[in-house]
Formats: sequence, structure tokens, C-alpha cells
Amino acid sequence: MTTNSLPHHIADAINQLGQDRSDGPLCCYLFDLEALRNRIRQMSEALPSNVALFYAAKANPMPEILATLAPYVAGFEAASGGELAHLAQQDHHKPLIFGGPGKLESELKTALELGIDAIHVESLTELKHLIRLAKALDCQAPIFLRMNIDIGSITLSKLAMGGRPTPFGLDSDELEHAIALIQQNPCLQLKGFHFHLMSHQLEVDKHLALMKCYFDAVKAWQAQYQLPPLAINLGGGMGINYTQPDQHFDWLNFCERLTQLIQQEGMADTPLRFECGRFISAPCGYYVTEIIDLKRNLGEYFAVCRGGTHHFRTPAAQSHNHPFVIIDGNIQDFSEEKITDELVTLVGQLCTPKDVFSRAQSIAELKIGDYVVFTLAGAYSWNISHQNFLMHPAPKFHYLN
Ligand SMILES: Cc1ncc(COP(=O)(O)O)c(C=O)c1O
Repeated sequence: MTTNSLPHHIADAINQLGQDRSDGPLCCYLFDLEALRNRIRQMSEALPSNVALFYAAKANPMPEILATLAPYVAGFEAASGGELAHLAQQDHHKPLIFGGPGKLESELKTALELGIDAIHVESLTELKHLIRLAKALDCQAPIFLRMNIDIGSITLSKLAMGGRPTPFGLDSDELEHAIALIQQNPCLQLKGFHFHLMSHQLEVDKHLALMKCYFDAVKAWQAQYQLPPLAINLGGGMGINYTQPDQHFDWLNFCERLTQLIQQEGMADTPLRFECGRFISAPCGYYVTEIIDLKRNLGEYFAVCRGGTHHFRTPAAQSHNHPFVIIDGNIQDFSEEKITDELVTLVGQLCTPKDVFSRAQSIAELKIGDYVVFTLAGAYSWNISHQNFLMHPAPKFHYLN
């Protein structure tokens, strides 16, 4: 890849940041908040009228990211007590929803005290905790039942949280028991059903088929248990294509066809929600690192970058070669060490062979002091990394607004 693949203002910002040598070679995250704002605005505008878009904070909970998104999202999803406390502290006056397996009673209590919009109940045990808590606090617990269902012939994506046996959600066989508990305990307010069966979905057709599957399941349960009108949280999971970055999930096409599906299925009066993470924030982030060593080892070339997967675990977590752009670092001292037209593996500073960003990449020209800019680094990046391993310093964080 060349500098041309980067927006000009990003390349300019990186060149500018590289001039500061006070902390040694460049190593930072750069977030383009204006790009994030444009993206969330466009995503929201394309939604069918009865669909609300929440942001799954697990993708990137940085305060600057949350503040940029807040005016455009319906609310935020927390997947742990820690995220819930963090979101509450940010105080964006937006509805919060609380999901995730293994919630502690103390966390459920905090959620109720915060006036949570909905708790996504993952099990009968959680439902029983909530009955006790809501009675003790003399309040109603607003809940969505998270369901795992059989999705027949729809194929699973690379990362499936359902549609096969997983620890997530209630089994349809448990629903009768759950509904009975809800009917016997008016302190539980059933607001809807929640599904998140897969992430990394790249195919619109398959995702629409999944949405239809959810609609069918809810309609059947409503008839079977004579339930009142309920909302449906359709989860997140729209994918970013890291290996072919021009082929991400086609959001606009999906929304257009979802509007038709909603009409066909008679769901126009049902409040629907998404809770997307990766698809919203991945494109706004860049992990920028400077090459500090170039070597040939048993016939293969390696470029050692400042930092590593302890800052940016995304490629290791996803087992992919992360897309990147090289910027000429213009540092004269090392120009004679240049590699030209070789396959190079980009690695970090960790003493483990797993510290790889991109393996055997065809690179036209590379030298010590060049910057490697990993794109699509705004989601599941810094916050999923084993940051303390080897006690290297953290990268710097910069925001373009
Ligand atoms: C319950 C739930 N909702 C939403 C998300 C967000 O998924 P994504 O970032 O793929 O949109 C996840 C991701 O793990 C999840 O587990």
C-alpha cells in the first residue's frame, strides 16, 4: 500500500507527529473523530424508521469516541459492570443497556439504581437475581430476554455467539419457565427479546435471513405465550473486511432491504434496535508505528516496529494480516538499510513469535524510520490488548477533530 491510500489529513497529521523525537520513535493511536461523526450520521440516516442504533462500547469505550457518537446514537450498550460504570460516568444522558454473561448481583443492582433502559437477561439464574433485587429495591426491572436459537441452514460467520451451543442467551426450551417467572413477578418488566448470534458478518443476504429468523421466532413466541407487543434488539455484528478493505458489510444496501423486510413481515410497529460496535468505530482509528529495525533471518525479512500486539492485538486476535500503509519517515541516517521489492513480515517488540501484525507482505520499499500505519484500528484494538506484557510504555493517543 502507498501513502495515497490514506486520507491526506491523516498522512499530514502523522508526518507532523513524527517530527517530535522527544519520546523516541513514533508509536501512537490516531483517531479521526470527524470521520467517525460522518460515519455514524450516515449510518443513522439510512436506518428504517422503527430501528434505533445503539453503540456497543466494548468495541472502543474511549471517552472521546463516546462523546463523538453520543448525539447520533440512541444509547450505549455495556457488556460488564465496568463498562456500565464507565458509561454512567461519561454522563451523556443517553439510555444505557446492559448485557453479557455472568452478571454479578452487585452489577445488576447498580444497573437498576442507574435507571437502566434494559438488562439483557442471559439465564434463568439472572432472572431470579433480578426478582430478588427488584423486590428489595421496590422497583421494576426492565428486561430483554437474550435468546439463542437454531437458525437452520443460515451459515455462521467467523465469530458466532449463537446458532450453535454457546454460553450466551437462553435456550428456547427455557423460555416457558422464564415467561412463567415474569408473569408471576410484576417487578419484572419484559420489554423485548434480544439476539446477537454473530459478529464479522460481511454478507447482507445472510444477515437479512438472520433478521427474518429473529422476526419469525418472536412472532411464534408471541402467539405461543400470548405476549403483548414487544421490542426486538437485533444485536450488532456487521463486519469490517480487514483483508479486502473495499468489501466491508454494505450498510446502505442492508438498510434499504431491511426496510422492505420489515414491511413484508409486518414488523413496522415493532420497536427494533441494533447494538453495533466494530462497524461504527473501526474505520476511524489508526495505529501508527515507526520501523526501528530491519532484518533478514533464515531467508525471510522482518521489520521490527515500535510497539506491538500488546498495543494492537487486533491482527493476533483475528488471525489476519492487518492492512497497513507505509509512509516515508524521511530519516536520513538509515537510508542505506533499505529493502526493496521483498516479502516482509511486520512485527512488534515483544519476545514472542506471535507478535505479528502482518506476515510476508509484498513491500516495494522500506527502511528504518518509515512509519507503518495500520488502518481500521478503531475497534477492538487498544482495549483488547495485553497492555502490561513486558512493561513497554503505552502508545500516545491523538484525536483529530
Ligand atoms: C451481545 C453483543 N452485542 C453487540 C456486540 C457488538 O458486536 P460487533 O462489534 O460485531 O458489532 C457484541 C460483540 O461481541 C456482543 O457480544
